[in-house]
Amino acid sequence: MSPSQKDYFAEKAKDYDKEKARTDNVSNIASLILKEIAYTKDMSILDFGSGTGLLLSKIAPYVGKITAVDISKSMNETLESKRETIDCALEIKQLDLTTEPMNQQFDGIISSMTMHHVENIPKIFETFYGLLNEKGTLALSDLDTEDGTFHKDDTGVFHFGFNRDEFAKMAENAGFKNLKIQTVGFVEKPYGKYSVFLLTGNK
Ligand SMILES: C[S@@+](CC[C@H](N)C(=O)[O-])C[C@H]1O[C@@H](n2cnc3c(N)ncnc32)[C@H](O)[C@@H]1O
Repeated sequence: MSPSQKDYFAEKAKDYDKEKARTDNVSNIASLILKEIAYTKDMSILDFGSGTGLLLSKIAPYVGKITAVDISKSMNETLESKRETIDCALEIKQLDLTTEPMNQQFDGIISSMTMHHVENIPKIFETFYGLLNEKGTLALSDLDTEDGTFHKDDTGVFHFGFNRDEFAKMAENAGFKNLKIQTVGFVEKPYGKYSVFLLTGNK
């Protein structure tokens, strides 16, 4: 992250894991990913927008290495403090994947609740495609189209969820195959109930 970029998650990082609706949602996402994708201990996986590591901690026992990429220094620091509890090799990288290149290849990409923070979705799908080995897998989870009430503060939010068909089409246009979108579950907040989907596919 360059000095001019704001760390939108600086205030949230310390208490991020304390919200049960959030941790339950990510647990549901992880369970569905593990049902859909057969990981093995020799695989190297990228978690895009890894945050405090809620998702990668559940995937870790099934893979060899996870590279956690997040733009937020504070979220990365919280993840770093949990390193001992992560059950695979872990590399933490602080970078903005929408603007900074990565010279690595992965067997799979996972991501939860990060895509709505990315402005140019077709471009990030192209980036994902380039980062994957042949037949590499994709598992991305995010909100279905919502009315804009999911976030109390919309700073850094580019999409109020996604239309599933449009989202899958953008992945297809980047070259991804065997695409499937299904419902993970719902995040319940005092002021609304928000549906969450998982897109899976491969290069
Ligand atoms: C809502 S949080 C989700 C964190 C985690 N995946 C989870 O489900 O608990 C979104 C994360 O994406 C990160 N992020 C947003 N845009 C990013 C970008 N362009 N490159 C890397 N990380 C990004 C944020 O810093 C934040 O940690």
